[in-house]
Amino acid sequence: MTEEDRVFLITGASSGIGAATARHAAKAGFRVVLAARSIDKLAALVEELGGPDRALAVQCDVIEFDDQKAMAAAALDAFGRIDVVLANAGVGSTSAGIENGDPANWRDMIRTNFYGCALTAKVCLPELRKRRGHILLLGSRAGRMPLKGSIYGATKWAVTGLGHNLMEELEGTGVRCTLIEPGMVDTPFFETPKPDALRPDDVAASIMYAVSQPPNVSVSEVLVRPTPPTQS
Ligand SMILES: NC(=O)c1ccc[n+]([C@@H]2O[C@H](COP(=O)([O-])OP(=O)(O)OC[C@H]3O[C@@H](n4cnc5c(N)ncnc54)[C@H](OP(=O)(O)O)[C@@H]3O)[C@@H](O)[C@H]2O)c1
Repeated sequence: MTEEDRVFLITGASSGIGAATARHAAKAGFRVVLAARSIDKLAALVEELGGPDRALAVQCDVIEFDDQKAMAAAALDAFGRIDVVLANAGVGSTSAGIENGDPANWRDMIRTNFYGCALTAKVCLPELRKRRGHILLLGSRAGRMPLKGSIYGATKWAVTGLGHNLMEELEGTGVRCTLIEPGMVDTPFFETPKPDALRPDDVAASIMYAVSQPPNVSVSEVLVRPTPPTQS
């Protein structure tokens, strides 16, 4: 099997880390399945990455189980296989803290960042088992450290737990599972630019590092942070 034939599915591919990873994966020879709600952005990325022979856009709201089932089915219909999955779709908080936070935003974060991620794993695992494939969950450094009053951070702690529990479930299947845990990344996730943060390409490179290991090597976690700026 050549790398050309392999299929890499990404949720949250319309922006930021997901779009950057799609570009890196396409460059590495993968065919890519791009899922998100913004179908116009995905369609533009499909054209950029070589058109329908190389890329597929799927409109999917990750909080909807039916959308996620349809996403996996569309990938198999178009390309006949799924080898690598990046569960990346996520949203941030609109107001800080527990006392002052907005419960509607908490629900969105829990459903997108945690429930959506678990659904992506559920719908893709049967195919990944067949392919002895690889699933990567986009957690966060915020899921590895206490963050004052952060419900967003708590959803990422849940993703860390999901990843480790999934690794246990996948024992003996040949399927690899990796948690990607970036510090701050300069993406549309934030309303203002973050010049001292990582770039989406940096995180995509970390993802491709885990994906490109030989079959006997499973990278469990990649915690990647921006280098602290020099004090002068
Ligand atoms: N930026 C950071 O500092 C940072 C650090 C650590 C971890 N992360 C995590 O990295 C992931 C990607 O974030 P990013 O920084 O690249 O932000 P971004 O540029 O805002 O991208 C978020 C992506 O998620 C998609 N998305 C959101 N809700 C969705 C839903 N219900 N269904 C389907 N897709 C949905 C968005 O697409 P649509 O709106 O088109 O659906 C978009 O493609 C997130 O899980 C985030 O928590 C970010």
